[in-house]
Amino acid sequence: MSALLALSASIVSAHALAQSVQYASGKGIFDTKCAVCHQAGGKGQDGLAPPLTQLPGRYAGDAAGRRQLGLTVLNGMFGAITIKDKTYNFKMPSFASASDEELASVLNYVVFDLNAKHDKAKPFTAAEIKTLRAAPMDGAQVRENRAALIKSLGL
Ligand code: HEC
Repeated sequence: MSALLALSASIVSAHALAQSVQYASGKGIFDTKCAVCHQAGGKGQDGLAPPLTQLPGRYAGDAAGRRQLGLTVLNGMFGAITIKDKTYNFKMPSFASASDEELASVLNYVVFDLNAKHDKAKPFTAAEIKTLRAAPMDGAQVRENRAALIKSLGL
């Protein structure tokens, strides 16, 4: 009986955690535009779209990493990538049609709500996205840029 009580208490606290979202509007955008590929909570889909629960948090504390996150949502990304021995090779579309505010807010949801570690990162601002929007690149370049970043951060 006490085991059952302990179990139900942990279910209740997991539920409370799931509801305490810092970036609710970012979550709304994520659930509408991103979850179809990355799945709810950013857990990813094998062979299709990578999980977003570890690397974005690591990128966000670094200037080049922040730039990479912004470039990915603005321009999309194309070409195979490998995360933890799993390869993903599908096309991430560009979300340049979303506003700077929306993109900052969805990145904040990904970094701060979906990643346990975020290396003391500051929240994304619309101004940060606006600067990156001024210099579009193609999805293959975004992937090359990612490869260089992964190397320089030692990830
Ligand atoms: C049509 C499917 C699809 C949708 C929709 C999509 N993505 Fe992606 N995303 C991908 C794929 C595929 C990749 C990996 C691209 C590659 O293999 O080059 C990716 C990569 C990423 C990465 C880079 C991860 C890393 O480790 O560098 C981020 C960040 C990301 N997506 C965020 C988002 C966000 C935020 C949204 C919604 C605004 C979104 N994605 C919508 C398919 C999608």
